[in-house]
Amino acid sequence: MTATKSYYTSWEELEAAIRSCSRCPLHKSRRNPVPGEGPRNAEVMFIGEAPGATEDEMGRPFVGAAGKLLTMALESAGIPRSSVYITNVVKCRPPSNREPRPEEIEACSVFLESQILLLKPRIIVTLGNVAGKKVFELGNLRWSGVTKMRGRLYTLSILGLKVVVIPTIHPAAALYNPSMRDILFNDLKNVKRVLDEISQTLTVASGDELSAPEQGGRKAKSLLDYVKRG
Ligand code: URA
Repeated sequence: MTATKSYYTSWEELEAAIRSCSRCPLHKSRRNPVPGEGPRNAEVMFIGEAPGATEDEMGRPFVGAAGKLLTMALESAGIPRSSVYITNVVKCRPPSNREPRPEEIEACSVFLESQILLLKPRIIVTLGNVAGKKVFELGNLRWSGVTKMRGRLYTLSILGLKVVVIPTIHPAAALYNPSMRDILFNDLKNVKRVLDEISQTLTVASGDELSAPEQGGRKAKSLLDYVKRG
């Protein structure tokens, strides 16, 4: 269980471990591992399934066709891609883009869990079934499939952190399907709404603290700093 895992406590250590990882057979066929990217103080974390061909080639998450759609959906919701942290459940491309196997997901879990612990996101958006299942498992809530679970918010306790989880479909499922595309775009608008609502609540709740000088350190500028973690 998670209590016995040793997590990475610095981003540098974590990314170095991902780059040299041989915990599962996926390392044999990868061109580049794909740790993830984005600000290390992002409030929102997006989690996909696994790198595809373009990601494997570039070493960056969501830079192929599905990634371009994700970026468009983010921008359309008013969320700059550069403001969120994006990663995957597994960090190396499964051959022929097959779904990652349970033992590969388990072998890679310490990396995802360490990322969550280092980032401490307020919101996690899961993209598709593999990410939804994994994150709900970490939050000890039964996953009943993305079709049933999406469109709602779940406040989960993940590794001791209170996180709002918003499951949505995988952008690859929306590539050639206009109604799925609408779902993705609308779900991301909800992400923006939740982010704004949290900020709004804080504006009311924190009063003059909001004009306090920045302290330096992580998230010094964010209203969300004033939310107490449960
Ligand atoms: N699909 C994913 O799940 N992740 C990526 O990074 C790209 C495509």
